[in-house]
Amino acid sequence: MCFKIGNASGVMCQNSDDLDTLYTSSYCSFVVTKSATLNRRDGNPEPRYATLPNGSINSSGLPNHGFNFYLDWAYDKLTNENKLSFNHKKKIYLSISGLSLDDNVSMIKSYNQMIDELFLIEDFDINLIPQLEINLSCPNVIGKPQIGYDLDNLEKYIRVLDKEVDNRITYGFKLPPYFDISHFEIVSNILNKFDKCSFIVCCNSLGNGLFIDIAEKEVVIKPKEGFGGIGGDYILPTSLANVNYFYKNLKGKEIVGCGGIKDYNTCLMHIYAGASRLQVGTYLYENDAEIFGSLKSDLYSYIWKNNLGDIKELIGCVKSKN
Ligand code: DHB
Repeated sequence: MCFKIGNASGVMCQNSDDLDTLYTSSYCSFVVTKSATLNRRDGNPEPRYATLPNGSINSSGLPNHGFNFYLDWAYDKLTNENKLSFNHKKKIYLSISGLSLDDNVSMIKSYNQMIDELFLIEDFDINLIPQLEINLSCPNVIGKPQIGYDLDNLEKYIRVLDKEVDNRITYGFKLPPYFDISHFEIVSNILNKFDKCSFIVCCNSLGNGLFIDIAEKEVVIKPKEGFGGIGGDYILPTSLANVNYFYKNLKGKEIVGCGGIKDYNTCLMHIYAGASRLQVGTYLYENDAEIFGSLKSDLYSYIWKNNLGDIKELIGCVKSKN
């Protein structure tokens, strides 16, 4: 089995040249586009990303070209052969993060129109139809709480979106990290009511962390007085817990591991916890698309050397202590 690993939304996916790099990079299995809003946004003032000793902090504020840009990019990749002298098509996930429920509905309507067009193409491979990754967890827009934490309204919110998505297609959610077992339970009970939701990404950054440069007595990013989403090593145990809880409690949904992936060990931790697809954020930001080749080859060598068999059998294999 070929394990799927690609970018986390937000990294190398805002502009078409970066998107093209990921799309044509042989070892990157899929591409997720930058979380889009209905209209384009410049995002928060810079510096809005900083490298930390063991990860990153960002408060980008959803800089993006507007959803239609990403729809057009995806349509072009899937229908326009040879433009990049690259005929191999790969799966695209379109991330949306509307500033309101109405904005998300509008973007889903535009998405449905593109789906209609793709279905009209004779022999179009249904597995290549782009899927929506609906972001319930952007922590960086001033005055906009994360929907993923509004547990009283989450089901109602999802019901509206779920109804809107073309019935021939499934979609997924990018979730914020959860920390309390009662919240895990509430969210999984809600998600289990929606069969059209076929995957979840665990998880978005640890929202609203703060880092301080002691020499300067100063925060390290400009927006929000230095508060921002934390990624990298800091988030790994939290991501693993989210992957593992949802793996054990969601019925028939793919769990996508995201958080702290930087080598074959961290890939394996996510796989053992229950992830059957992986996304890389901070480590990709700090490097380039070459990382997918080394992550995959190191992972396969470890599995081969240790005689672990088919990677499929390793998904969710973590044991409790006796
Ligand atoms: C941004 C950050 C996120 O964590 C996210 O999910 C979407 C957007 C941003 O600041 O641009």
